[in-house]
Amino acid sequence: MSNSSITLIKNSRIITDKSDFVSDILIQNEKIISIEKGINVEENFNVHNAEGLLALPGGVDCHTHLENKFGQSITCDTFDTGTRAAAFGGTTTIIDFAFQNKSRSAQQAIEYSIGLAENKAGIDYSFHLVLSHIDQQSLIDLKNVINNLGISSFKMFMAYPAIMANDAAIYQSLKVTGENGGLICIHAENGPVIDQIVKENIKKGLTSPGHHGFSRPAIMEAEATNRVIKLSELTNAPIYIVHVSCKESLYEVIAARKKKIKVYAETCPHYLFFDDSVYKSDDFDVAKYVISPPLRKKEDQEILWQALVKDDLQVISTDHCPYTMKEGHLGKTNQKPLGLNDFSKIPNGAPGIETRLPVIFEGGVNKGILSLNRFVELVSTTPAKIFGLFPQKGTIAVGSDADIVLFDPKEKNTISASNHQSNVDYSLYEGMEINGKVKKVFLRGSLIVDKDQWVGSYNYGKFLKRGETCKV
Ligand code: URP
Ligand code: ZN
Ligand code: ZN
Repeated sequence: MSNSSITLIKNSRIITDKSDFVSDILIQNEKIISIEKGINVEENFNVHNAEGLLALPGGVDCHTHLENKFGQSITCDTFDTGTRAAAFGGTTTIIDFAFQNKSRSAQQAIEYSIGLAENKAGIDYSFHLVLSHIDQQSLIDLKNVINNLGISSFKMFMAYPAIMANDAAIYQSLKVTGENGGLICIHAENGPVIDQIVKENIKKGLTSPGHHGFSRPAIMEAEATNRVIKLSELTNAPIYIVHVSCKESLYEVIAARKKKIKVYAETCPHYLFFDDSVYKSDDFDVAKYVISPPLRKKEDQEILWQALVKDDLQVISTDHCPYTMKEGHLGKTNQKPLGLNDFSKIPNGAPGIETRLPVIFEGGVNKGILSLNRFVELVSTTPAKIFGLFPQKGTIAVGSDADIVLFDPKEKNTISASNHQSNVDYSLYEGMEINGKVKKVFLRGSLIVDKDQWVGSYNYGKFLKRGETCKV
């Protein structure tokens, strides 16, 4: 794979957030150097005929959990399998998480996470720094991380006892990020109340996985969303609400944006395709859907889709947080069966990194809900802009990284865990038929997926230093 080689993509239909036209794309030294019709190069260069195919900017998934450790459980995709799965699904950049805590400084957390990813990642990557311990020093560190280490976004959890941040910690952190061009991403659920409900249910003997769903009410997501929006308003610092699952918290986001409070928000594909009826069964299979926030009512799905159309929600990320259903699958332990007799012990999360573009294309574009431009904006351009990666990532333009997905909008395929790339042993979308398929993926000009073959390399993915956030 030579960086200086020239690659030409002929006759593709180029889709960006704003344009849609047929042209050729010339690539050299990892960048797009020309977009014009009728470009010709010598025969010995790499030429890809893309007639009939869409050329999409590589997907930017700003919410993934590869090799993340929560309690005793580590997500089952490593940086090699997870980034390969992402690439097969048309994603060329991820933003994962580096965990700071009382005994691991911000810098150590970032170095540790880069150490996990380098020499394994097949696509480009960055990290949000998870803040679970705030004191004088960590607030100083925040500034340094933004200004010198290329990490301009952070994550704080209002739920999960082990890593939960209280309101004062969020308030203090927002003051620093707001003044330094940084952005805090928030998991908004009222953790203390939810933990109380969980304890009450376990005490009553309601231990099957479905009770996870019934222990995390939508209004407790809305309450936390409202509370953190008030902190954002108070500090005049932007916030980004991750995985909005329901109308109750969406309405808080909409009301805040109307008031010009700097709130951005994402949802994830599983909230658009599944609902809480799955929690009615006592079967352990329901553990697949043990995610936080949980799946919501059927009626929420349409409301979320419409919010995506209207820009009330700006991003679709995956929250890819995979744990295997079978203990010991590919040697992975402490996975979903950890909570066989107690739903509160089931590691929370579901896979999605490989299916984001295909399922949103099917459910959004093919169903006539999203235009092609809006699709690109939601899965690539806006996450790149919000998280300080644009225009290097998130578009097809002269000067941008040549991260390009050639997508056949007509080819049919069926999603199945039997042929996916991820280490996880199930797909939420098993059997779903998609009209549209990722055919070729280029990362900085290098072909990494060719039809159904991985042709990338696990040390080509690079750590991305990011700039100022919220440039939307
Ligand atoms: O259930 C989930 N979403 N697990 C991943 C961690 C998080 O809350 O994002
Ligand atoms: Zn979360
Ligand atoms: Zn997450």
